[in-house]
Amino acid sequence: RLYGPERRNSSGMDLSQQNVRDDIAAAIRVFRDSPAIAAGAIVSGKPETGGGELCRVPFHTETVLGACKEASEAAMDRALDAAVKFQPDWDKLGGPQRASHLRAMAEALEDNMSRLIALMARETGKTLNDGIAEVREAVDFLRYYAMGAEKDFAAPMRLPGPTGETNHLSLHGRGVFCCISPWNFPLAIFTGQLAAALAAGNTVVAKPAEQSPLIAFEAVKLFHKAGLPVDALHLLPGKGETVGAKLTSDPRISGVCFTGGTNTARMINRTLAERDGPIIPLIAETGGLNGLFVDTTALREQVLDDMILSAFGSAGQRCSALRVAFLPKATADHLIEGLKGAMDQLKLGDPALPETDIGPVIDEEARSMLQEHLKDMKSRAKVLHQVDAGIIGQEGYGFGPALVEISSLDQITEEKFGPILHVIRYDPDDIDEVGGKLHAKGYGLTLGVHSRLDSFYKEVRAACPVGNTYVNRSMTGAVVGVQPFGGEGLSGTGPKAGGPHYLHRFAAERALTVNI
Ligand code: SER
Repeated sequence: RLYGPERRNSSGMDLSQQNVRDDIAAAIRVFRDSPAIAAGAIVSGKPETGGGELCRVPFHTETVLGACKEASEAAMDRALDAAVKFQPDWDKLGGPQRASHLRAMAEALEDNMSRLIALMARETGKTLNDGIAEVREAVDFLRYYAMGAEKDFAAPMRLPGPTGETNHLSLHGRGVFCCISPWNFPLAIFTGQLAAALAAGNTVVAKPAEQSPLIAFEAVKLFHKAGLPVDALHLLPGKGETVGAKLTSDPRISGVCFTGGTNTARMINRTLAERDGPIIPLIAETGGLNGLFVDTTALREQVLDDMILSAFGSAGQRCSALRVAFLPKATADHLIEGLKGAMDQLKLGDPALPETDIGPVIDEEARSMLQEHLKDMKSRAKVLHQVDAGIIGQEGYGFGPALVEISSLDQITEEKFGPILHVIRYDPDDIDEVGGKLHAKGYGLTLGVHSRLDSFYKEVRAACPVGNTYVNRSMTGAVVGVQPFGGEGLSGTGPKAGGPHYLHRFAAERALTVNI
């Protein structure tokens, strides 16, 4: 049974078309030539800007793109009060009406695609192709959750009961959801979280990552302009330690949706446990130590293509990215030679140019962390290859993709967020034991398998269960409604974004029994 067969994902933009490239180039020029953007909180539709942290262009760190004023305590209070007050009205509006708002928001993003792609290239170093995929995903989330609101939040579900008694089950918003989103999908995840919360009848206070407040500011303005009631969604930018901590400890919050690091998710959990007020859900999607298992039946060219894309696409800054590839002892040398050659073909450079495959990493902290890890690997393992970061290395936060051979899984303990691929030689006959060792690390987000044997991928999947398994293809780029996305264990609390059960996790269920 197909879920949602009548639905279609956004068609996005085709970068091979000259007019598309011209449009995006024009939008990039506008950001280059315009004065710095002033961003800040948006409370009840009113921007609160002026001063604040400078936002630098990761590709060219001397360039300042804008500044974002952190949300003040007073702004947070006003936003929370307004969101609490408006939530019952928003809930009563009903699923289909809320869905219309979400569809209008999707249209607003589609109408502004070039501008949004250009802004992400400048603010977060996203390549144009990644930017296109990002806007598409945001649009898809809005329309998918609109469909969910229409299907599941339109009317109570009738349930069976004895004669003379009626039974109904209905879904309602829980209250105000706090949505805390990451910089690596500054539009798609930012929008996906708030769209799900809104679809389910909650109002939202959204805290974007401190590295990517400008695109969030732009998106919220577009959403309000598209007709979303201003008290349904408030933007509260700032640091996790200040704004995030204050919001998650506030008793006016009825749920938290978080995407980011595992340790931060733990901290939020502790904060929620210790605060006053209702006991509320945390929906968390965190990192992964994602593995790929190749056997000797796999097609070499396909394996190489998929490894390069999964490990180095988006500069490795996806939680779904490939981190450890298990190569069969019999073919490992041949695969490694191929990998080195393919890495040398990658074009590193300005993310705003259509030919660029890989742009900068997000900031100096990210780059230093990766450099430290590589240094550590040089002493404890074998660094087989690293691509020169070229111009980004001189002017921006450049880090060249690197290939490291480890001899044991003990040599890596946690996710390193960036373009470093670890490989390890193994015997596919030992898949139970090796897969079990990876599983024992505790993560459970994505898993790749390359094999012509169904029996092999089934064995891998049994030894190492995760949220998203990909066989004979890349391990990144989950599509809304097609590959519902989310992990287990250290990788998150489980609900699948872009899947048929996601909205229910944002809702309260209420049963009504009437004896006539
Ligand atoms: N959903 C993204 C992917 O599949 C990661 O967040 O790559």
